[in-house]
Amino acid sequence: MSVSYMTHPLIKHKITLLRKQVTGTSEFRKLIEEISMMIGYEALSDLPTADIKISTPIEETIQPVLNGKKAAVIPILRAGLGMVNGILALIPLAKVGHIGLYRDPETHEPHEYFCKLPKSIGQRQIIVVDPMLATGGSAIAAVDAIKSHGGKKIKFLSVIAAPEGVSALMQAHPDIQLYVGCLDRCLNENAYICPGLGDAGDRIFGTI
Ligand code: PRP
Ligand code: URA
Repeated sequence: MSVSYMTHPLIKHKITLLRKQVTGTSEFRKLIEEISMMIGYEALSDLPTADIKISTPIEETIQPVLNGKKAAVIPILRAGLGMVNGILALIPLAKVGHIGLYRDPETHEPHEYFCKLPKSIGQRQIIVVDPMLATGGSAIAAVDAIKSHGGKKIKFLSVIAAPEGVSALMQAHPDIQLYVGCLDRCLNENAYICPGLGDAGDRIFGTI
């Protein structure tokens, strides 16, 4: 598995604003969307293109456009939903699937409660989005589910990751590409990322 850590100062700045306890729900949503678009821009740099003939006001010319089956964006519910519009701003024709998972508060094990993926998933570039990669349990379960439906070309985008989650995901799914906005220090005793940003789902949906 390849892991790419974002280095752009705009991404770093916006992740710092996202972390702040005083950042309210509407600003948090806006920041998550903007950060997702910037991580997505980096992650999609290898999308295939094909040359087509077009006419400019000056002359005919051969120029590249995106090519191949439309990509599939797959948020892990709930918090992944906050990242979808940022990716769709880049690739508006992408299909969107959903995987519902929640972490048991005691065991921190993921439980799947929903899975609906676009057709022909095996032929699509898949972009799984979830802002938090903590123990890695939810990410591993989501990729397991996608692969069991035939998904192959998988990129996983997270805003903040713990080293424990990166290692676990790498070990379970060495064939995927992981993009991380910021690598944090560690997990605490409740498997929350430190310094992190708290509970991403609660902060996006105002359910704190
Ligand atoms: C959060 C987050 C990830 C998961 C990460 O979801 O959005 O899906 O935890 O933790 P892990 O790496 O230890 O599995 P949560 O289970 O809190 O559900 P929610 O998005 O519905 O709040
Ligand atoms: N899920 C979150 O939303 N935040 C964490 O820090 C860990 C898991």
